[in-house]
Amino acid sequence: LDLDGRGALFEQLARALKRAILDGRLLANGRLPSTRFLAMRLGVSRNTVLGAYELLCAEQLAVAVPGSGTRVTATTRPPAKIPTKVLVSSKARAPSRYAARARRLGPGTLARAGRDLRYNLQYGEPLMSAPLFQAWRRKLAAAALSAGPGYPRPGGYLPLRAVICDYLARRRGVTCAEEDVLIVGGTQQAFTLAARVLLDEGDAVVLEDPHYEMALGTLRAHGARIVSTRVDAQGLVVHELPPRGPRLICVTPSHQFPSGEVMSFARRVELLDYAARQDSWILEDDYDSEFRYEGRPLPALRSLDLADRVIYVGSFSKTLFPSLRLAYMVCPAAIREDLFRAKRLDDLGSPAIDQAALAAFLRGRRFEKHLLKSISELRRRRQTLLEGLNGHIGTSIKIAGAAAGMHVVAWLRRLDYAGLSRLIAMAAERDLGLHPIHPYYRTPPLCPGLLLGFAGLPIAQLEKATALLSQCLTEVESTWPLSPQILALRANLGM
Ligand SMILES: Cc1ncc(COP(=O)(O)O)c(C=O)c1O
Repeated sequence: LDLDGRGALFEQLARALKRAILDGRLLANGRLPSTRFLAMRLGVSRNTVLGAYELLCAEQLAVAVPGSGTRVTATTRPPAKIPTKVLVSSKARAPSRYAARARRLGPGTLARAGRDLRYNLQYGEPLMSAPLFQAWRRKLAAAALSAGPGYPRPGGYLPLRAVICDYLARRRGVTCAEEDVLIVGGTQQAFTLAARVLLDEGDAVVLEDPHYEMALGTLRAHGARIVSTRVDAQGLVVHELPPRGPRLICVTPSHQFPSGEVMSFARRVELLDYAARQDSWILEDDYDSEFRYEGRPLPALRSLDLADRVIYVGSFSKTLFPSLRLAYMVCPAAIREDLFRAKRLDDLGSPAIDQAALAAFLRGRRFEKHLLKSISELRRRRQTLLEGLNGHIGTSIKIAGAAAGMHVVAWLRRLDYAGLSRLIAMAAERDLGLHPIHPYYRTPPLCPGLLLGFAGLPIAQLEKATALLSQCLTEVESTWPLSPQILALRANLGM
């Protein structure tokens, strides 16, 4: 009998005996050793053995027979032995088509990239604020009382849905009622629910090229046929959409991820028109529209959507923090009930206490104050980044996507992909984390580029990071000259 060392001795002994019964070493109806004998053999007290036998009896694996000790239950059958071959092949073969497709996705571009580097220009991470976290903790304690211990409403905490409606009307021009708003566990769950409700295997879904990797993963795992459509400086190139309408079109119009471009008003109208004519649904991923530095924000697609084809998704991952895992969907009427049903089947509703805390946060305008502060801090960080690269901008770097969000794109006009690899490796040797944009493209763009996140580093560190980047760039460019023909070709393409 092997004791596993976990918990009290009598529990360990009971587990060891249970294993012996289940794998057939102790036969059905067979007598267990007397408590005195087993205690002596194992060098434990009789009470330990008695306790273990009692547990076995409670689990109906053994019965105490007055006068003749404890026996293994008559109906206990050792489970059929699984041949080792099956065990090995079940590891190799995915249990379902979904699992097989999910296995093929791979680990993801960002898995651990540059995590340990001191000056990591990581994109996708929000501004962290210690006072905000303190305020959140206080709200959470109060929210526990107001939300109570019962099951939440699957569609979401009503007061939260009400404040979201108010917020959307004021800030995004979206008018909706509480019953249109579905609270979900992050944008990620919004993708899953939309896929579940709208797609069968093989259905066409348009994704932007370049694209958000987590959206691609979810849709692929659901068996969608992905149709990548190019993005230019005005956003998705609508006239290149397939002639036969896809079921779903996923877009990031306020700040295309990752190129950073903002979809023009004309394109928005064109896209809505296409979706209405083709009977396609649009998922508008409005993940970081609150952070805008130049000009007025354009209206959300949903606010222009007369045909009711747009599922609007807003997340609190960037405006508050991603560990919260809360987002919302504004659902078109025709699929509202289906989306709500899918959410209920998925998890019976998001955690009520977090939702109640968030409602209080939004209601008290603390959230909007926090946004204003964040925008001014982000603006300073963005400025530091751009100023730090000033010597290169216009010559070796072309900046794009700087009007909004928490990262900019730096196109490296004087490097090829081999030069880019050298640049990233050299930067890492100097504790600087750089992240290329091309993994998010179907076909790598002509010119390599970097995604430079500025939310994660305070000003002083950003200054150091840009100085390091400038140095590395100068060194690599001097040892990696591009041919004049390539430079001319890039210049012709506006690079
Ligand atoms: C394009 C895009 N959409 C959505 C999100 C937010 O996702 P979630 O709400 O699941 O945290 C991100 C986060 O980086 C993103 O880049």
